Amino acid sequence: MKKEEYRFSYEVYDSVADLNEQDAWLVNEAREVTAAAYAPYSNFNVGAVAKLANGEIVAGTNQENASYPVGICAERVLLGSAASLYPNIAIDTIAISYDNTAGVSNHPISPCGMCRQALVEYEERVKQPIRLILSGLDGKVFIIANANALLPLSFGSVDLK
Ligand code: THU
Repeated sequence: MKKEEYRFSYEVYDSVADLNEQDAWLVNEAREVTAAAYAPYSNFNVGAVAKLANGEIVAGTNQENASYPVGICAERVLLGSAASLYPNIAIDTIAISYDNTAGVSNHPISPCGMCRQALVEYEERVKQPIRLILSGLDGKVFIIANANALLPLSFGSVDLK
């Protein structure tokens, strides 16, 4: 038997004011686009904004449904839009924020398991890591260099060979 170790590191900033201008802009866009979420059941409005390798900006928000499992997260709405509008273009960075209208929005959230799987597939597809900037409406900001760091031992296309 041998033990393997998985190490994960990420950057922590006290607030958006500590980010560079480009990253701060993207975070503010993600915060603003939360207003376009449709989340009448959870009251948890999520916004995601991507900067693509070709310079284009694409947004996504969560879209819920009275049949709860039909709802889709902001991140996967964004990935579907990006892939449809700009096929095969890599995503450099995605900023993700949220407005919890029934609670607090002062700490970063991190993509759910299903979105992690979708992010990893996108990275593999365009052969470039996606950088994530996670935040609430205020408070700390986390930066993760590769979305795949959030999904160790992930299942992927290679496993289907
Ligand atoms: N949600 C997202 O859109 N992204 C996340 O990273 C976490 C959760 C949505 C799903 C649902 O509409 C609401 O937030 C509450 O879970």
